[in-house]
Amino acid sequence: DKVILAFSGGLDTTVCVKLLEENYGYEVITVCVDVGQPKEEIERAENVAKKIGVLKHITIDAKDEFAEDYITKGIKSNAVYEGYPLSTALARPLIAIKIVEVAEKEGATAIAHGCTGKGNDQFRFESVIRAKSDFRIIAPVRELNLTRTEEQEYAKKHDIPLSSDKLYSIDENIWGRSIEGDLLEDPINEPAEDAYLWTKSGVDAKDEVEKLTIEFKDGVPIAINDEKAKLIDLIAKANKIAGDHGIGRIDIIENRMVGLKSREVYEVPGATLFIAAHKALEQLVLTKDELRFAEYISTVYADLVYSALWYEPLREDLDQAIDNMQKRVTGKVNLKVYKGNISTIGRTSKYSLHDLEQISFEDKENDQNEIEGMIKHHGIQATLYQRLNK
Ligand code: ARG
Ligand code: SIN
Repeated sequence: DKVILAFSGGLDTTVCVKLLEENYGYEVITVCVDVGQPKEEIERAENVAKKIGVLKHITIDAKDEFAEDYITKGIKSNAVYEGYPLSTALARPLIAIKIVEVAEKEGATAIAHGCTGKGNDQFRFESVIRAKSDFRIIAPVRELNLTRTEEQEYAKKHDIPLSSDKLYSIDENIWGRSIEGDLLEDPINEPAEDAYLWTKSGVDAKDEVEKLTIEFKDGVPIAINDEKAKLIDLIAKANKIAGDHGIGRIDIIENRMVGLKSREVYEVPGATLFIAAHKALEQLVLTKDELRFAEYISTVYADLVYSALWYEPLREDLDQAIDNMQKRVTGKVNLKVYKGNISTIGRTSKYSLHDLEQISFEDKENDQNEIEGMIKHHGIQATLYQRLNK
């Protein structure tokens, strides 16, 4: 029988290949879904798969799909969970769908993943696989209750090639880089510089201020500095610009689905930049009531994505409301980045609800006296209440 393994070439999934063969008696087809992780990661998966001699290794290019159908939703909803822009969480449903498709095509009977029983990713993979198929699901690391040290020992014993002796558990895609485990498990430990790849520290960040313009259409970035490009390329560019300026390092205590608090470190330079710019544009074009509602549903949306509920109908309901609102989130935002900081310095939109004439202190046309009646009635109930107390 054949099993399809979601494969990155890292410690967990590499060990899984051998376990699936030896403990479960499967022939293993490894699949690496390209969601914009660095090229070296894709190549690492290919090389490791070749070295350990899997039945077949398949790379699936899902970069544009990830950007167009998943990251767009993250930007439009400003989806951030407890400070984390959901880079891993947004990619999991897509990876799972792609794996199901391969399993069907290759005539496999099972699907496997390398997630532990401690985290969220097991929920995200399995909820989608269950919703979309009847394949047997195998989670060797969880089922055998393996620690990362035991995995390392198993790898050594079986001559499994490992690319690094670091015990970090890292997940990367174009929207961000998640780093956990090893020294980072203890919340008191400062992350070593070697945990970071995409972002400079404040000290090493560029020494000059950089100004840039991000243009949005329907809530989605379409150009940086007036150069139009497809979203995946704009994100890569934003990652570079913001990362060089020390933007997008996140170090948080996160509430996992299983109830555990976990110390999580992320590098999300482009996501941080885009969401900041997107919010700045929303302030110009959405009404006060829309903004309050957007803020509320942003939290609901982020919770759904984080909690492996991509296929919950509420997500689709929210998408409709969000898409309708985002029709006016079109325009340009000027930003300044420097040493880890982002400042919005200007914004413009043809859907702007800002009226320069009316707001201006130089305006004579609109008689200031007209506001007096509104003031008298504003808070009338508070006035009556205070009179009661007299
Ligand atoms: N805590 C984050 C999440 O739940 C990141 C998970 C990262 N996954 C990993 N295999 N390192 O989305
Ligand atoms: C894992 O447990 O495999 C990674 C962490 C997570 O899923 O949150």
